Amino acid sequence: MKKVGFLGVGEYLPEKILTNQQLEKMVDTSDEWITTRTGIKERHLAASGEAASDLAFKAAQKALANANFKPADLELIIVATITGDMPTPSTAAILQNMLGAPKAACFDLSAACAGFVYGISVAQQFIASGTYKNALVVGAEVLSSITDWQDRNTCVLFGDGAGAVVLAEVKHGGIISTYLGCDGSKVDILNVPGGGSRNPATHTTVDAHQHFLKMSGNELFKIAVNTMTMAAQTVLKQAGLTFADVDLIIPHQANSRIIMAVAKKLGIPEEKVYLNIERCGNMSSASTVTALVEAVAEGKVKRGDIILLDAFGAGLVWGACIIKW
Ligand code: COA
Repeated sequence: MKKVGFLGVGEYLPEKILTNQQLEKMVDTSDEWITTRTGIKERHLAASGEAASDLAFKAAQKALANANFKPADLELIIVATITGDMPTPSTAAILQNMLGAPKAACFDLSAACAGFVYGISVAQQFIASGTYKNALVVGAEVLSSITDWQDRNTCVLFGDGAGAVVLAEVKHGGIISTYLGCDGSKVDILNVPGGGSRNPATHTTVDAHQHFLKMSGNELFKIAVNTMTMAAQTVLKQAGLTFADVDLIIPHQANSRIIMAVAKKLGIPEEKVYLNIERCGNMSSASTVTALVEAVAEGKVKRGDIILLDAFGAGLVWGACIIKW
């Protein structure tokens, strides 16, 4: 099998920022509650009319420039998202046209907060098998479009953003191991109940706020800690490595308390954990990839380093990945 690695990375966070202090004026909450329970201080929000493809386009342009790669040469585009521009066509198809990448096969991937890890795992298979020479994988979300701004249980948690990577065959390093999983028996504790074929959009679904994210946060918390711990242990074992070999863990950014509980269980010191949740909140499939992009930009990921990506979200799904940078 061919080795598959990262040629370039890029991110885009919308200009508008919503702080905890501003949220205090919208719902019954406090900066103190949000900070201590989640680690979030502020989040970026897309402008009115700004869709997932707009964010994806800006992140993809940066990743392509970083890779010194022409869009016309792209053979595959995967957009991991739960907030695509429209139910059909795919946001990947819209992005292909924006970028000018007519050769690329395109599809969206729905694996919620594990979407980016699922996406690079799928792209890796296509490249390793020789089907395609390269792939653009994007995690892009406008979660503000499915956030109930009257529900304090959820509206303080989410943000908008996009991250992108260009993948191709590499001589050294690359993706060493991936582990994906799902427990479909717990659909009820995190979902958007309205708008699909089960419950199509009607005046009633709109009035009942069914097009927004619903979450049993407390129930999810423990499952998130245990699942992310198990996924990290499994992928490391598959790779034949131990936690002492890991230079940086880049987890999905749902809650800093979840992340630190996972790190503690794994015996990974805090300084080896990358966080951007304080500035970005939870951006679902955009979280892990933007954290990776920022860690690279800050020089926290160096050539030869062993990186562990670890994500968990609605499905319930999980995905972990070991990369040699
Ligand atoms: N401001 C103030 N109080 C709030 C609040 C807010 N924004 N949101 C909830 N509360 C209240 C609740 O109403 C509850 O009040 P009560 O005790 O009077 O009923 C209290 O705070 C505690 O709520 P609880 O849900 O137990 O808080 P928590 O410590 O579990 O934190 C989450 C809530 C959502 C931050 C946390 O559970 C979490 O991060 N869950 C997992 C998220 C996750 O993994 N998602 C999957 C990937 S997307």
